[in-house]
Parts: sequence; C-alpha cells; structure tokens
Amino acid sequence: MGSPKKPQLRSQSWFGREGKQGFYYRSWLKSAGNPHDMFDGRPVIGICNTWSELTPCNGHFRELAEFVKRGVYEAGGFPLEFPVMSLGETQVRPTAMLFRNLVSMDVEESIRANPIDGVVLLMGCDKTTPALLMGAASVDLPSIGLSGGPSLSGNWRGKPIGSGTGVIHMSEMVRAGTLTQEEFIEAEACMQRSTGSCMTMGTASTMASMVEALGMSLPENAAIPAVDSRRSRLAQLTGRRIVEMVHEDLRMSKVLTRSAFENAIKTNAAIGGSTNAVIHLLALAGRIGVPLDLDDWDQLGSKLPCLLNLKPSGQFLMEDFFYAGGLPALLREIAGHLHLDCLTVNGRTLGDNIADAPCWDHDVIRPLADPIRVEAGIAVLRGNLSPDGAVIKPSAASPALLRHRGPAVVFENIEDFKARIDDEALEIDENSIMVLKNCGPRGYPGMAEVGNMPLPPKLLRKGITDMVRISDARMSGTAYGTVVLHTSPEAAAGGNLALVRDGDIIELDVPGRRLHLEVSDDELAVRRAQWTPPPAPERGWAKLYIDHVQQAHLGADLDILVGGSGADVPRDSH
Ligand code: FES
Repeated sequence: MGSPKKPQLRSQSWFGREGKQGFYYRSWLKSAGNPHDMFDGRPVIGICNTWSELTPCNGHFRELAEFVKRGVYEAGGFPLEFPVMSLGETQVRPTAMLFRNLVSMDVEESIRANPIDGVVLLMGCDKTTPALLMGAASVDLPSIGLSGGPSLSGNWRGKPIGSGTGVIHMSEMVRAGTLTQEEFIEAEACMQRSTGSCMTMGTASTMASMVEALGMSLPENAAIPAVDSRRSRLAQLTGRRIVEMVHEDLRMSKVLTRSAFENAIKTNAAIGGSTNAVIHLLALAGRIGVPLDLDDWDQLGSKLPCLLNLKPSGQFLMEDFFYAGGLPALLREIAGHLHLDCLTVNGRTLGDNIADAPCWDHDVIRPLADPIRVEAGIAVLRGNLSPDGAVIKPSAASPALLRHRGPAVVFENIEDFKARIDDEALEIDENSIMVLKNCGPRGYPGMAEVGNMPLPPKLLRKGITDMVRISDARMSGTAYGTVVLHTSPEAAAGGNLALVRDGDIIELDVPGRRLHLEVSDDELAVRRAQWTPPPAPERGWAKLYIDHVQQAHLGADLDILVGGSGADVPRDSH
C-alpha cells in the first residue's frame, strides 16, 4: 500500500481541467506570463490587498505584496494578488464602519469565486483588518494575516505626537486659545511621517495586536514599523508559510477557537486596546461559529492590568513598543493568564512562540507587578439606559468620574452637537453628562467614531479636561476620556437613549457596572409614545445595511452574514 493520496486542491477544479474549460481557466492567466507548470497542482495563494491611495495607512501594500509573492514562489506556490474595497479611516464618509461588512462580503465572495487554496490578508487601517478576517472566516480556507505595521513616530518641535491622540489634544488647545491655528497646521505634516497605520494604540494597532494574539499572524506582526525592512522580511516569511499551511490544511477554524478569543480579550486589556476591538471580535466570532458575548469582555479582561505604556493610555508610541520587544514580550508578561496551548498559524503554539521573547525596555512594557493601570480591560455597563449593554474603557477615563451622577445635556444628533457645543450660552458645567443620540449602527448609519465629544470651550478655559459622555456611537482607539459607548439598543432602534431629555439625572457607576436614567417607567412610556424614529436610507448598500445590521452588543454584523458558507467550489462559469 502506498501513502494516502493527498486531497486535490480546490484550484485544480479550475486549472486541472481538460478540454474547453481548462483552456479557459488557464489561458487568460497565461496572458500575465505565467508558464504552464504554474497550473500543475501547486497551491494557489490569493493575496487579498487593501492598497489604495485613498488609504494612506495601507499605501505600501503593493511593495509588501511583492515580498509575499517572493515567499510564495520560494515555497512552491503560485501567488495571485487581488484587490478588495479599501477603507481609509480618515477619508471615508459618513464613516468607514458603514462599509466594514460590505468589504467582508467582497473578501468572502472574491475568495470563494476564484481558484484559491490559501489566502494572505494584507490589512492595516482600522476597518480593513476586521473586514478581511470576517470575510475569510466565512470561507475558512488556510489564511494568514499580515498587517501593514504602524507609521513612524510623530514628532513636532522635538516632541513626540501620536496619531489621533495628538490631534485631539492639540485641537482642544486651539479651542482653549493656547495653540495658534498656524502651529496647528504645521503639526499636520509632523504627525503621519510615513505610510503605515496610526502609531498610537488606536484601533489599527489594537487590531494588529488582536491578529497576533489570536494566532492569525506570524509573531511580531503587530508592532514592526511599516517602513522597517523587517516588515518586508515578515511579508516574505508569511508568503512561505501560507504555502505550508495549505499543505497542512491548517484552516482558520483550527486557529480561531474560543481559547484564542479569550487570549485576545486578555491581550486587549494588557495593551490598553481600543473599544472597537469589542465589536470587531464579536463579529469575527460570529463568522467562525465561536460563542462569544459582550459579558465575556468584562469577565475575562476587566480585572487585568494594562502593561503597555502607550498613548492614549500612556506615554510612548508603537515604534517604541517594537524596540522594547513587541507583542511577544508583552504576551510573555501575561503568559500566566493565557491559553498557551492555542495553535497559531506558524504551526506552533502561542506558548512556544513567546517562551523566549525578551523585553528590552520595562518603561514601555511594564512588568506584571508594576502595571500602568491595575484594572484596564473593558467594563460592560447595564441599566435602563443600556439593557443590552454599553462599554467604557476605564484605563482611558478619569478615575474621579467613574462614579458620577449628573444632569443630562442632550444632543439629538452629531449636527446638533456641532451647532451648539461652542455656544457660550449653552447650559452646561463640569458636572453635566453629555448625551449624544442617533450615532449607532442604524442611526448614523454605520456607528461613527464620534462618542468622545469635544468639551465646551468655556469649560476647557476653566481647565476642565474630562466629563462624562454617553452615546450609541463608537470612539477612536486614539481617543480618551470618561466616555460610555455602544449603548444598546441604540436611539434609532428605540432604545431608552432616544428618550433622554435635558436635565434628566443619569447615574454612572463603573465599579457597580451600572448606567441608569433616573426617570420613571411611566414617564418613559409617555415619551416613547411621542417618539418617532429618524428617517432611514431607501436604496443601495445603506438600505441593505439598515435592514440587516445587528446592534453593537452583537458586533454590528449583518444578520445575513453571521456564520459562513465554506469553500466549496461553485459551478462552472461557462
Ligand atoms: Fe488609518 Fe488610523 S487612520 S490607521
């Protein structure tokens, strides 16, 4: 008896064909100069690329893809690069999040419809990472993530400035009159100094860390700067590895287990990661069929310390994190909290990958015994304002405000907020609670990052730097403050948030995990009878989105996209 026959690769359902069908499938690809032996049964590797000039964070992805291809060829594979819709966080209106699920559909259908055996996911700017992971998970082929890496550290007049965090800080200074408009504009060119994603622990760096903590990338993926030659080297090694993964049939579902998600949640606490990770990981878990809910974030992560001294929670930037040892060094510090037996895409366990990871700078990566925050994970708040949950990142909040009771100052939508916040006559003081409605998945639509409302100038001038803010929106991972987000159900879906009025007393109790509107049920019923939902889009993607998007506590995926359809080969096209 001979050794068992290897299963035929799905690409051979295209390229291994005889007659007219095989001719069609091979001939057009030969027009790119591919010789006949490229179709001989070797793994075909799709390189899913989110390059775009409109997404400067991913502006180096064409070069990165070339290094991936080198690796694929070296390992005996056949690389074929393909584009999907790219989402530049800073450019796309009304919000890139409106299109995360659309991109995931693009990714899923592009993979399944084509002669692909394994996939390298090139992702960077915020939404490109969850979109590609979600789409690939619904196909469940061997897949490996390659992040674009953070941009170089921002530097203005000899001082470090971090993506997003620096903008928020400096714009408050302009509004308070302590920074001129000319200085503000000068700083624009000093912040993003290279391609690559935001170099604070914003959503992009958080999601790159999630990719590595989940085991979906080679070690060190999260922190190598975008323009460091070691990022190119990682790309080449990623190309080699995906070919082996196809031979091993190492599919996403073997890596993305419940234990891997638990590791990611704990890692998010230890890095002071973005609240956006909550929504993205819930959606990803839904795609791969892993049970995960909002309360898992609180139960698994909220008591863990933040060890990473990075803006916005701390002092340093992603480049410093890489020089200090990167994510492997941090994971080694929290190894006692992790499932070390989780399989990762390099075929080794997480424990194997981090066993010898050195830390070169304990100011940046603090020891477990000396964290920058003691309890740093995501806290989930419930009460009559958020029966399905709301989240807050205590590590980015003011400790004195974590228990607070105050009168609401209500903004019906973001335009209302922008129109009135600078008005000196606005009745608001530092004890007020700012409430913003209609910015959730259906309300915006797309759940924009507007939850960290800027403070009124008259309070900034008084030296007030933080206030309690509540909304159904998200917040940029680069932002900070005592900001309650993702209130569910959202206002536009008829949640009690829609019924809050100026002067209503709200109680926030983060240690008690409570968010309560002190208005009687009878009065709320009267207000509800008077409430009408905001107008909704009537055509195109926005209409499809509104009709199917789930609430934030479920990950804001479309209900029709939860789960997957696998990698079965579709019927012939001709
Ligand atoms: Fe692209 Fe921040 S704007 S990563």
